[in-house]
Amino acid sequence: MVHQEFLSRAASGPIAPGEVAWQAPSNIALVKYWGKREGQIPTNPSISFTLDACNTRTRLAYAPASPKAKGPVFRVFLDGEPAPGFEPKIRRFLDLALPYLPFLENLSLEIHTENSFPHSSGIASSASGMAALALCLVALEERLDPGADTAQSKRKASFLARLGSGSAARSVDGGLVFWGEHPGIAGSSDLYGIRYPGEVHPVFGTYHDTVLLVDKGQKPVSSTVGHGLMNGHPFASQRFNQARRHLDLLGPALASGDLAAFADLVESEALSLHAMMLTSSPSFILMKPDTLAIIEKIRGYREAGGQPVCFTLDAGANVHVLYPASAAGAVYGFIREALLEHCPGGQHICDRVGAGARRL
Ligand code: DP6
Repeated sequence: MVHQEFLSRAASGPIAPGEVAWQAPSNIALVKYWGKREGQIPTNPSISFTLDACNTRTRLAYAPASPKAKGPVFRVFLDGEPAPGFEPKIRRFLDLALPYLPFLENLSLEIHTENSFPHSSGIASSASGMAALALCLVALEERLDPGADTAQSKRKASFLARLGSGSAARSVDGGLVFWGEHPGIAGSSDLYGIRYPGEVHPVFGTYHDTVLLVDKGQKPVSSTVGHGLMNGHPFASQRFNQARRHLDLLGPALASGDLAAFADLVESEALSLHAMMLTSSPSFILMKPDTLAIIEKIRGYREAGGQPVCFTLDAGANVHVLYPASAAGAVYGFIREALLEHCPGGQHICDRVGAGARRL
């Protein structure tokens, strides 16, 4: 299905060589996207914190392709080195994006990308990577057809990023980003992410995310396979309803700054995501003993000392520790003293809520 709203008006005529560059952030979901339908449509809406320190920088150099080439012709470089391993995923993405950017057919592209976090950290780079590339492609389109308004460009970048990786739809805007149609959220769409339009207490703009690198290995199940496991999953419909209910409950907590309710919901989401993998067929245990040890310590620390700290997980063993700036001194001390012993080499990444993608 072609979405008219995102078709291109840029002419497919001759294009002078040039380049564009964007930086896009990673994001961490508070209510998780897990399960999708044909066309990369999520089975439930999700919401995330945009991160800051974890990001991808991409430079896209373009030039006319030789007339015989059937475009888009492209090469990918990671940290300055050719990275042919990324090409199949990017080819699929460009093929999906082509109806919306038909001028790509006549171009030869060089995609130079670098991540601020190590490739082997277990942090997925697909969200920030696809968002940075989508933003470059929209910037290139604007060169050919100037005058698009910023809001529409952002929507198109998120729309295209989603075709590459669902969660990438949430890596364009800053703060809290909502993706997926929800009757209670004005302007929400399955096709792209939007800045969460509800009331948000200022405390959430100060949130830190310390990512504890428990396991830096390749994940045993890719997200694409993981989403597929929700098809025919015995608890799928209950899970999709639960995510919607969690979003309904999160709204008031975000508005009032109720950090206890926030912690409850965010942790329940993380554990529900893992519960889905534990009960799918085949099943996957993605937590490690150290993941559980960290979770238990965080809960014990919160109950004993009342600090507003909570955890979330993505589809792996690493733990994201979330806390507001007002608690940062105490919580980071606790992380150093009690949690880093569970991370090989004490490895962790200090991140926080960020402002969204930016042009370089
Ligand atoms: C567990 O966006 O990586 O991080 O759409 O197949 O590329 P694809 O999957 P992906 O899935 C992310 C899943 C998650 C939860 C989330 O980010 O909402």
